[in-house]
Amino acid sequence: MLGMFDSSKTVSALIDSARALPRTTAMAIGGCLVMALSALAAATLVVPAPVNAQQSGGEVRRAHMGVASCAGSTCHGRSIGDGKPVSQNEILRWQEEASPGGAHSRAYRVIREPRGQAIIRRMGLNEDGVRRECLGCHASPGARRIQEGVDCETCHGAATGWLSSHYAVGATHARNVSQGMTDLVDPQVRAQVCLDCHLSGDGPGEFVAHRIMAAGHPRVAFEMDLFSALQQHWTEDADYGERKYGNPRARTNGMRNWAVGQAEAVKRSLALFSQPALGQDGIFPEFYFYDCHSCHRRIYDNQDGAITKSPNPGRPIPAGMPPYNDENMIMLLAAARTVAPDLAGQFDTRSKAFHAAMTRGRGEAVQAAGALRQTADALSDRFAGAAFSKEQTFAIMNTIASDAIASRFTDYEGAVQSVMAIDTLLNGLVNQGMVSQSAAAGLRGRINQAYAAVREPNGFQPAAFRRALGGAVASIRSLR
Ligand code: HEC
Ligand code: HEC
Ligand code: HEC
Ligand code: HEC
Repeated sequence: MLGMFDSSKTVSALIDSARALPRTTAMAIGGCLVMALSALAAATLVVPAPVNAQQSGGEVRRAHMGVASCAGSTCHGRSIGDGKPVSQNEILRWQEEASPGGAHSRAYRVIREPRGQAIIRRMGLNEDGVRRECLGCHASPGARRIQEGVDCETCHGAATGWLSSHYAVGATHARNVSQGMTDLVDPQVRAQVCLDCHLSGDGPGEFVAHRIMAAGHPRVAFEMDLFSALQQHWTEDADYGERKYGNPRARTNGMRNWAVGQAEAVKRSLALFSQPALGQDGIFPEFYFYDCHSCHRRIYDNQDGAITKSPNPGRPIPAGMPPYNDENMIMLLAAARTVAPDLAGQFDTRSKAFHAAMTRGRGEAVQAAGALRQTADALSDRFAGAAFSKEQTFAIMNTIASDAIASRFTDYEGAVQSVMAIDTLLNGLVNQGMVSQSAAAGLRGRINQAYAAVREPNGFQPAAFRRALGGAVASIRSLR
């Protein structure tokens, strides 16, 4: 019988540590930068050649300059975030020990710590194996020192082309981007960067296969806006609005980032599934693509053996077949209904056709995946140019809690996505000045109740969850 597994890092635990705190408190965490940096510089581990400085995804990944090259005290190495035009304490925030904000600087270290070592031991990996299976996500492709984990240039792009010019007089975001800086302000670009590691990619060591999870790796769950907030090391002030959006009052639209993130995740999952080398594992399909808890359940063998499966109208598949993990498809449909209603029907039809094709064979499933991916792509483009007004955002939240969508939260994964979505959308309304901070704070308790309903992966109860979610959305509606 399959074991019940415990994803020891639940999303709700993350929320407790991040959004429960006002951002300013989270940022005030101290620490000795000088010591931390010299520890980086003094690290004496033998450094193998860059993991995949060679071809990856058709593009040559250039070697990195390294974190030290960002660390000047008039650059990103301040201990107090009072710099201009950026706070300049970004390195300190990237290294925050006590919070998810510092996770990327710890990414290499965690594979040397007990949980990482246990995974490596169970998989029987030697150093080459670790490089092959782990370092695509736990170090930076092209990093100068792999100990630096996911370094600045992993996300911002290899700095050789722009390092010396990006702080000079006359530098603009557009010019930096033209010199090779990655345009993380563009939600489609940002999603592709994050998803490489937070969903999986097809580069070397970028796929967190079921075998890795079965050896003890946490399930990867991601929502772009929330996770951006959890590792936010930058400050969005008037100057940021001016530099990035040409308007001092503009703030990053979290609702748009959420929606584009969902579309890009659907595209990515289907693209990976369509690759023969990743879509299968021996005689089986690769279990990574399915809803984890659909297999990992208890069996009751007694007379009136309880059936725990709940009917799911979004997945026309017979009982007894594992469903494709559709957490992002459900969110995408909810966003499409409001923001791109003309494409919503097509997306719904194609996602059902895809689930059905999964019961018929790999060839048909891959073909249906291609069609679905096309619609997800069109939605991503549409969202990238949409306003996500207050009205639309409330409508999306209502849709998520409506019967049509909520009846699809039969599995833990989709339920977690929906709570992250409500949290993110409300937060986005606050950041856009469409809902007051104090009104939103008054609803925190309701959102926390929804988080509590997904705290225990193995005790997930769809009906109770839907009630908690419905309650949260009903009280949010009062802000309209
Ligand atoms: C597709 C990218 C990817 C691959 C491949 C990958 N990981 Fe991870 N790993 C992650 C992400 C993302 C997280 C954080 C999950 C979260 O909290 O959402 C993580 C978390 C972990 C953690 C938990 C860290 C903590 O703070 O508790 C350990 C340990 C770990 N990985 C080890 C490994 C090992 C060992 C391998 C290779 C056998 C590996 N990982 C392969 C992406 C990956
Ligand atoms: C996991 C990806 C990631 C890593 C690692 C990362 N950043 Fe960022 N960074 C972002 C994102 C996303 C933004 C927000 C979009 C933007 O402003 O470009 C951002 C914004 C910034 C900004 C604000 C830019 C502005 O114009 O106001 C600075 C400065 C910055 N990062 C510096 C760093 C430094 C220095 C490091 C390494 C210590 C680093 N970042 C590591 C993703 C990352
Ligand atoms: C090169 C791989 C890589 C990329 C790219 C990447 N991450 Fe990560 N991220 C990781 C790994 C590995 C961890 C887990 C490290 C640990 O537990 O210390 C992680 C952890 C995190 C965490 C903390 C989660 C937790 O459970 O504490 C957040 C938040 C996060 N990443 C956000 C982002 C965002 C947002 C982006 C894109 C802007 C991004 N990451 C891009 C590899 C990556
Ligand atoms: C199609 C069915 C199926 C799906 C879907 C599935 N698993 Fe598994 N899982 C298995 C099987 C089979 C084993 C091996 C059990 C054994 O070795 O005895 C396993 C083992 C595991 C184990 C080790 C459990 C133990 O007690 O040794 C973990 C952890 C795990 N899976 C996590 C996951 C996660 C996370 C997901 C979702 C990404 C997932 N599984 C999806 C069938 C599945």
